[in-house]
This record gives sequence, structure tokens and C-alpha cells, in this order.
Amino acid sequence: MTNMMKALEKSKPQEGLWMVQAPVPEISQDEVLIRVNKTGICGTDIHIWNWDDWASATVPVPMITGHEFAGEIVELGKDVEGLHIGQRCSGEGHLVELDSRQSRSGKFHLDPGTRGVGVNVQGAFAQYLCLPAFNVVPLPDDIPDAIGAILDPLGNAVHTALSFDLLGEDVLITGAGPIGIMAAAVARHAGARNVVITDINADRLRLAGHVVPTVRTVDVSTEDLTDVIHELGLKEGFDVGLEMSGSQAALDQMVEAMVMGGKIALLGIPPGKSPVDWSHIVFKAITIKGVYGREMFETWYKMIAMLQNGLDVSRVITHEFAVDDFQDGFAVMKSGQSGKVVLNWR
Ligand SMILES: NC(=O)c1ccc[n+]([C@@H]2O[C@H](COP(=O)([O-])OP(=O)(O)OC[C@H]3O[C@@H](n4cnc5c(N)ncnc54)[C@H](O)[C@@H]3O)[C@@H](O)[C@H]2O)c1
Ligand SMILES: [Zn+2]
Repeated sequence: MTNMMKALEKSKPQEGLWMVQAPVPEISQDEVLIRVNKTGICGTDIHIWNWDDWASATVPVPMITGHEFAGEIVELGKDVEGLHIGQRCSGEGHLVELDSRQSRSGKFHLDPGTRGVGVNVQGAFAQYLCLPAFNVVPLPDDIPDAIGAILDPLGNAVHTALSFDLLGEDVLITGAGPIGIMAAAVARHAGARNVVITDINADRLRLAGHVVPTVRTVDVSTEDLTDVIHELGLKEGFDVGLEMSGSQAALDQMVEAMVMGGKIALLGIPPGKSPVDWSHIVFKAITIKGVYGREMFETWYKMIAMLQNGLDVSRVITHEFAVDDFQDGFAVMKSGQSGKVVLNWR
């Protein structure tokens, strides 16, 4: 192994990413070195590519980007136990401190000191990734690397979808991006009665129907959600809402379509402050939960268990590219005409 590697880096504070030669990271006693096989492109990576206000205020330059990966352990820090060289793995891209109240009570995903791989620390768009052993999630043999590379966003979908009991419930998902579509698959798997997913992009809704054939897709730019509620025979509206678009119009529509006492989990990130009709939420006695990341490591446990027991999200991966063609991968992601895009590093 040479001590240099290929990496996709934000090298300059402007639009784009650049393929560079970077040193292979050196690991400390409680870290592992992972040879990266496949990575997923995330919406976050698109923000970093575009160098929007959030990215330029958050990401130091230079920064190797990327946080969705699957690979194989090639080196272990001297204090690492329970993992081995050659172990296939994915991993949690949120690095936490262990001294906060939340971490000490086992709620690692709520640690206020969380830093992001590929955002605040050098990332996974590289031939090698250094990760704390704590963050490694071993991959069972029956989960291929392509799925391993999208466990991070699947985890967002699982964390959000399992926020409330779904068994027998009528579920509305707003936003048929990759995460919304995977949440529809999870809601189905978890025993929801009706699963309705909305978008304003017909390609995305077609993909949703392809990945989860039993979901009712609704293009809210042309179709009235109220008609769909009647068509499905929902007397009072949806029991559970999963907001996965970041659009204020979608949230307004969701609140409107919920039953009294309905429950909403918010994953979508609005671009800025947006007005909310709180009286509507109060009078409907709606519970709202904000969702960030994945629960460490309960979400990982549940999603791997569901994948091993029939949950199939493989069709949400619409494109795979060799990493040298990363420009094509980012272009198709930005077009809005893709599901998940995977880059192959080997
Ligand atoms: N909270 C977290 O930890 C976390 C983690 C990952 C992603 N996110 C957020 O979750 C959301 C989903 O992620 P993604 O990668 O699937 O995003 P995405 O941008 O690919 O998908 C969002 C979808 O919402 C659709 N949309 C826009 N306006 C709509 C409307 N009025 N009604 C219905 N749909 C509408 C868009 O057409 C798009 O298909 C994003 O907002 C993302 O920023 C949050
Ligand atoms: Zn991601």
C-alpha cells in the first residue's frame, strides 16, 4: 500500500469538488482504517459541491467530503477489540463525544458535540477512511456493499418512520426523494395500512411506485390530496406524517391532512425560517418530533434486521458510476431525475 490515495475534495471555497491525491490517514489507538469500496452521494454532498450559504459557513477547506460508505477494515488501532482485518462494514458518520449528559445516558445521537464525517472531519469519498471503532457497523454477508453504502440515508428513513407506531396506521409521507421513498418501504414493512407519498416531481413519484409498488403516489401539483383521502376511505385523515421534503407547503398540507391527535416526524430541512400556523397544530392536538441522524445504534440494528427480513430498497439505487466519472454522478443527482447514486472506488 502506498501512503497516498485518491480522494474527492473540496479544495477551494467555490463550486465543485476535485479529485486529488491525499495522504492515507493515520489512525490512533481506538480507530480503524477502512478501505472504501462504494459510497453514496447525499444531498449534503450536493450542498457542499454547490458551496451554498450552509456549506460555506460550515465546512472548512480543504475537506475530503462524503459520509455514506461501505468498505473493509484494513488496519486496527492497538486498543480496538471485537473487530478484525477484512471485516466488511459501514459506519455511523456522526462522531460523538462521550461526556455529555445525553451520551452518558446512552442517547449518543443527541450529543451536542456531534461532528460530521465529510463535513467537519475528513470524509469517506476516498480510497481509505479513518473512523473511530465505536462508529463501525459490521455488515452481515447477506447485505451487499451497494446497500451498505446507503445505510446512512436508509437510517434517516428508519429513524423517522419508527418514531411512532405504524402498525395498522394510515401514513402520509411528503417528499419522494430517496429518503422519503425508503421511508415508504419501511412504513409498509412495519405494517402501516395505507402509505401515501407526495411530491411535485413526476419522475420521483414514478421511482417511488417502482421501489414500493403498493404505495399510493400523489403529484400535489396536479392532484388534490383531499380527493385521495376520500378515495382511500380515510374518514378523518392520516394518523402519522413523515415530512421529508423540507418544503413549507408540504408541511402545511400535512397538518391539514392529519387526524386530531395525529403525530408528525420532521426530517426535511427547510431552507430558512418559515411561517407556521401554530394555532392549527394546537387545535388539532398534533405531536411534532424533530429527527436528526440515526439513533446510535438502535436504528442500525433495526434496519439491518429489517433488510434481513424482506425490506427491499435496492431499486432506490438508480445509478452507479466509477469514481473517476464522479462529475456524471453529481450531474445526475443534481438533475432531480435519480434516486440514490453510488460511486465505486475499486
Ligand atoms: N434531519 C436529518 O438528519 C436529515 C438527514 C438527511 C436528510 N435530511 C433532509 O431530509 C429531506 C429528504 O432528503 P432527500 O435526500 O430525500 O431529499 P431530496 O431533496 O432528494 O427530496 C426532497 C423531495 O421533496 C420534494 N418536494 C418539494 N416540494 C414538495 C412539496 N410541496 N410536496 C411534496 N414534495 C415536495 C422534491 O421534489 C424532492 O423530490 C431533505 O430536506 C434533507 O435535507 C435531513
Ligand atoms: Zn447522507
